[in-house]
Amino acid sequence: MKVTLSVIKADIGGWVGHSAIHPALEESARQSLAAAKAGGLILDYFVTSCGDDLQLIMTHTKGVDSEPIHHLAWDTFMTGTGVAKKLKLYGAGQDMLADAFSGNVKGQGPGVAEMEIEERTSEPVLIFMADKTSAGSWNLPLYKMFVDPFNTAGLVIAPQLHAGFRFEIHDIREHRKIFFDTPEEIYDLLMFIGTPSRFTIKHVFSRHDGTIAAASSTERLSLIAGKYVGKDDPVMIVRSQHQFPAVGEVLEPFRYPWIIEGWMRGSHYGPLMAVAQKQATPARFDGPPRVICLGFQVSDARLIGPRDMFDDPSWDEARREANLLADHLRRHGPFEPHRLPLEEMEYTTLPQTMDKLKGRWKPL
Ligand code: 13P
Ligand code: 13P
Ligand code: MG
Ligand code: MG
Repeated sequence: MKVTLSVIKADIGGWVGHSAIHPALEESARQSLAAAKAGGLILDYFVTSCGDDLQLIMTHTKGVDSEPIHHLAWDTFMTGTGVAKKLKLYGAGQDMLADAFSGNVKGQGPGVAEMEIEERTSEPVLIFMADKTSAGSWNLPLYKMFVDPFNTAGLVIAPQLHAGFRFEIHDIREHRKIFFDTPEEIYDLLMFIGTPSRFTIKHVFSRHDGTIAAASSTERLSLIAGKYVGKDDPVMIVRSQHQFPAVGEVLEPFRYPWIIEGWMRGSHYGPLMAVAQKQATPARFDGPPRVICLGFQVSDARLIGPRDMFDDPSWDEARREANLLADHLRRHGPFEPHRLPLEEMEYTTLPQTMDKLKGRWKPL
C-alpha cells in the first residue's frame, strides 16, 4: 500500500517568549486532526512540539503536495493562532505569512517535509524537528548518515547500501535544483551543501532500488516575507534499516553539536543540541538550538510510537559538549563568528543604523 507521510509545522505563538508551545495549542491541533481522521481525510496523526514550533505528523494516501492535506494543516494552524491570540502568546501567528490558503502551504510560512512510500515489511521512520535553527541545518547530518562510512558502518558492510545514495540539492536563492550521486560525486556535493544558508538537501534516494530515503523542509521565511519574521525551524523524515542506514546510524551524526545558524533573534551561530522532546525548551540566550527525534514503526499507515530517540543517557556527552561550545561562542557577544555576518543579519536595526549615519561617513 502507498502511504504518504506529511510533517507540517509552524510557529503560531510562543509560551513564554519563543521558548515553548502552550498545551492549549497542541490540544487544539489534536482536536482538528482527530476530526480529520474520523472523517477519513487522514489515516493517523501525532501532534507534538519542538520549542515554539507546533508539529503535525500525519499519514494519508493523497500523495505529496495534496491540497486537502495542506488545507487541513493551514486551518489547524489558523484555529491555533486564534487560541494563541486569546492567551496573548508571543508572536501569535508568527509563521502564517499569507492572509488566506491558496492551494499549498509551501511559500505561505509553514515548513513541510513529505514523502510517499510503499510500506516495507517493517517500516522504521525517524522524524527530526529543530528549533532556533535554519533551513539547511540538516545538510551536515544527512551527509554523515548517507555518505560517511565512519558514521554509517552499513555503507561498507551492508550490500544494499554499497551502491550509495542520490542527493537532490535545492538552491533556495536561485530556485533551481541539481542531483549528485554519492560516493563518486562527494566533492561536487560538498562544494554546495557546505553553504547551508543557500544550498539545502531536499531529498535523498537509495541507488540500490531508487526508493526515497529522506525528505526535509527547506522553506526560508525571510526569502518569502522579504524581512525577518522568525527562523525557518526545519523538519525532516528519514526511513531506516534494510536499504537505508540503521536507526543508530541515522542518529549517530547528532553525537556532535554542529554549529548552525539560528539561536538568539535568528542572528547567531550556535551548537545544535540533541534533546528529549520535553527538553526542547530553549532557555539560555533563547537556545542553544535544539533537535528532537521521534521514532515510529509505520504499520498500514498507523504511526506506532513515538519513541523519543534522544531521551537516552548515550546523548549526555553530546549535550555537555553543546553547552561548552555555547559558553565559548557566547563570550564573543556581538562579534562574528558568534553573530552572523552583516549580509545574513535579519532581525536587525542595521538598515536604520546605516540610514541614521548616512551623512557621517567620509571617504578615506
Ligand atoms: P539486531 O541483531 O539486534 O537485530 O541488530 C541488528 C543491527 O543491524 C543493529 O544495527
Ligand atoms: P523562533 O524562530 O523559534 O520563533 O525564534 C525567534 C527568535 O527571535 C529567538 O530569539
Ligand atoms: Mg517564535
Ligand atoms: Mg521556532
